[in-house]
Amino acid sequence: MRVSVIGCGHLGAPHAAAMAELGHEVIGVELNPDTRRILESGRGPFYEEGLDDLLAKHVPTGRLRFTDDLAEVAEWADLHFIAVGTPLREDGRGYDVDQVVGAVGSLAPLLRRPCTIIGKSTVTVGTVARLQEIVTSEAAGGVDLVWNPEFLREGHAVEDTLFPDRIVAGLTSNEARKAVEEVYAPILARGGVELIVTDPQTAEVLKSAANAFLSTKISFINAMAEVCEISGADVNTVAYGIGIDKRIGHAGMRPGIGYGGGCLPKDVAAFTHRVGEMGAVHAAGLLQAVEAVNDSRMDAAESLVEQALGGPVAGAAIAVLGASFKAGTSDVRNSPALRLAGRLHAAGARAVIYDPESNDAARRLRPDYTYADDATSALDGAEVVVLATEWPAFSKNAKLPAAAADVVRRRVLVDVRNAVDSDAWLAAGWEVWQLGRPVQRPRA
Ligand SMILES: NC(=O)c1ccc[n+]([C@@H]2O[C@H](COP(=O)([O-])OP(=O)(O)OC[C@H]3O[C@@H](n4cnc5c(N)ncnc54)[C@H](O)[C@@H]3O)[C@@H](O)[C@H]2O)c1
Repeated sequence: MRVSVIGCGHLGAPHAAAMAELGHEVIGVELNPDTRRILESGRGPFYEEGLDDLLAKHVPTGRLRFTDDLAEVAEWADLHFIAVGTPLREDGRGYDVDQVVGAVGSLAPLLRRPCTIIGKSTVTVGTVARLQEIVTSEAAGGVDLVWNPEFLREGHAVEDTLFPDRIVAGLTSNEARKAVEEVYAPILARGGVELIVTDPQTAEVLKSAANAFLSTKISFINAMAEVCEISGADVNTVAYGIGIDKRIGHAGMRPGIGYGGGCLPKDVAAFTHRVGEMGAVHAAGLLQAVEAVNDSRMDAAESLVEQALGGPVAGAAIAVLGASFKAGTSDVRNSPALRLAGRLHAAGARAVIYDPESNDAARRLRPDYTYADDATSALDGAEVVVLATEWPAFSKNAKLPAAAADVVRRRVLVDVRNAVDSDAWLAAGWEVWQLGRPVQRPRA
């Protein structure tokens, strides 16, 4: 099929590359000239596992191209994916849907032949109905609108797009269903992937509910970490023990500094506002509690650093390992790691940040913080090492505890992701502080 992907950011760029990998001819439409130029050169504008490989494979052959010319794409494509951003409004009261309304509103009048618009951006209930009105009044006949929310995990965006666990399509016509089945045919033919066809409003709620549940799970185990901090219990053992129950499971149950990134914080905030507005008071109350627990984790993390230092952070030399909001991506939007570094910086610490992939993105967002170009420089002379993003290079690197021990001033690790296996660090003479766990000290 001839496919366009409108908006080539963290969702759209991997989606465009994956559609080319599935065998479609693809044009990505991107307004930001810097992003577009990098994509045109066959590279990703940010780090995302596997993205560079697919771009290097499909851009040189012309199977995947990039443009800002919407008119050309409107003439050419059978199907248009909408993957533009839906940031939180400045007042926090729901999404700013200007990009989605703008993209559909610009595309619709240019469409002169039957085709399908498939929205992938995350929107709240009622947005698709508003977009349908635009399509009905502006586009020629035979243009269908489908809402096909995306469930990919950043850091696994390519893999999750090519091997999704489900495809949800909110639609209202047989033609639209056929288009969805055709564009995803190679995935559906493999089997084991359920295509859930529903109405647009159910697709909207389903996506919001999925992110609300993931956030609830994270806030739940973080609330249990608070209980463990007070009672002296060990939250890692609690998480492991309850997760054995298949109704609970282990996924998403690691305690830490809370969820972040370009999706969960704004999606939970927008959904909380929308369900409150609709009068779903209990749903709103539940989600407000989820957000409150998440917000509280920053205080818990800063307090853990103070406890580990044995005093205030002002003046302390602190190495912060990690800036991206999670491992596998260079995305620093709403990153808890960077926020914690900022809290330490504001409190007067000499915090030095190092991230293997997101130093540049972090520098652009927060040029006022201090960065090191490698882990050793960040660790040099540190009184406390804060593991802020769970990159395997930090959390699973068996050589790091001994190597870091040689350059720090004190062997004190504060792991705010509860990501390390503490035995290796204890063996190298480190104290290990984790959220919701008693401190672990090396044997004398
Ligand atoms: N990032 C994720 O992991 C993820 C996962 C699931 C769903 N989503 C949803 O996908 C949507 C996009 O998120 P993102 O993280 O990719 O955002 P992003 O900001 O990284 O990307 C959006 C891109 O769209 C471009 N754009 C805006 N208007 C345009 C237009 N009219 N024509 C062409 N390009 C345009 C912007 O320049 C930007 O590059 C959001 O609704 C988000 O909630 C994201």
